[in-house]
Amino acid sequence: MSTTIENRGQFGSKLGFILSAAGSAVGLGNIWKFPGKAYNNGGGSFLVIYILMVAIIGTTVMLAEFVLGRKTQKNAIGALRELNEKYSWVGGLGVLTGFIILCYYCQVGGWTIKYIIAYLTESATVYADPTAYFLNMLGVNGFPLQGAIIFPLIFLALTSFIISRGVADGIEKLSKFLMPLLFILLIGLMIRACTLPGAGEGVAYMLHFDPSKINGNSFLVALGQAFFSLSLGMGVMITYASYLSKEDNLISNTGVVCVLDTCVALFAGFMIIPAVCATGIDPGMGGGFAFATLAGVFMSIPGGTIFGLLFYSLLFFAAITSSISILEGTVAFLVEEKGMERKKTVVYVSMVLFVIGVFYTLSQAYMNIKGIWWSLDGVQFPILGDFMEYLTDRLLLPFGAFFTTVFVGWIWGTDNAIKEATSDGKYKFSLAPAWAFLVKFAAPIAILCIIIAGLFLGMSIA
Ligand code: PFF
Repeated sequence: MSTTIENRGQFGSKLGFILSAAGSAVGLGNIWKFPGKAYNNGGGSFLVIYILMVAIIGTTVMLAEFVLGRKTQKNAIGALRELNEKYSWVGGLGVLTGFIILCYYCQVGGWTIKYIIAYLTESATVYADPTAYFLNMLGVNGFPLQGAIIFPLIFLALTSFIISRGVADGIEKLSKFLMPLLFILLIGLMIRACTLPGAGEGVAYMLHFDPSKINGNSFLVALGQAFFSLSLGMGVMITYASYLSKEDNLISNTGVVCVLDTCVALFAGFMIIPAVCATGIDPGMGGGFAFATLAGVFMSIPGGTIFGLLFYSLLFFAAITSSISILEGTVAFLVEEKGMERKKTVVYVSMVLFVIGVFYTLSQAYMNIKGIWWSLDGVQFPILGDFMEYLTDRLLLPFGAFFTTVFVGWIWGTDNAIKEATSDGKYKFSLAPAWAFLVKFAAPIAILCIIIAGLFLGMSIA
């Protein structure tokens, strides 16, 4: 039994949708992942490539997803099935990708809660040895009950609670409240970081464009990061746009969401890198960046504890508005396609992904699998986390985005898509010919390149 269009949820306002879609886009990807990737790939040079990727490919794919969702008023699989039965598996791939992402997303989301509490109650213990504190949370000294079970469970319970309340009451209300707060916090923290003595070097690094620092890998990292950061390639934006009315302007919404998301990534970069440079702390890599490294930074700056508390609250807000969007993608599919009851579905899905996610954290240190990826203070960080990231950012999300563009460009057709994008000509879309070209040719080709390179060049995701 499928849910009819009439009894599906809808966003209550235009702003509600923008903030919810931006809430999905702005997440751990912007604050936990982006600054590290920018740092490792040449600072300012990477920023230029990243902005180009968002502007050319990101906006193209996002509008394609919005159009599919609003046209059909269905979840990702239902949307593709309605337009062409043979392609519903593309939506299915997206649901699977979201599920994998959410397994580790909830774990890291849980760590943010752990750190908020740590900054409120035991900042001295964190400061005594930030790296050891982080590794301890991951289980280097025994089973990580808090890092793998308790806090991720709290995070997941919060996510599920919001989802089970539905679209306007849950997702929209929370995003309207949290997103402006997040912006204010982030801008405040960025100004604080950039005005630290010694921060100038980091600012200069992030502003310096040096073409010699750009190579093939920079493009691959930038495009994979852009998909993840903009929540593209797994149908979340299809599902969100399915709750929109025909009155909404999909073209301007695409622009606003992409600009907001990119601003947050840039602000996070200009907060974290200058702070790291100001304190002279080696900016580690991977998952430890926002936790072990930054806690060390907060320790060494005046007012650092408040700075830290605000930062982890920010990370938590960003993470929860994204995790609800990912869970919503899976839940909407099961409710609408399989006729399952919403609240029960949320509970079942959460339980399964929680169990898988536990292994993500366990594999960081507790299981201590040897010989793998990166190390922090001599502790080997094993493959599971990086593998999940590689699988989703380098293969599955690009794969989803590739088929979305091929579907819209070649199967459903750009004329149909442009008709929907402009609400049957109601809104002006002067870039329509350029968009049609990008959807049909440039985007699928560029995306295919990153999939192939991802398969053959190995797993460099830093
Ligand atoms: N965009 C989110 C972030 O940057 O953290 C993560 C994400 C959410 C990815 C939703 C994919 C998605 F469908």
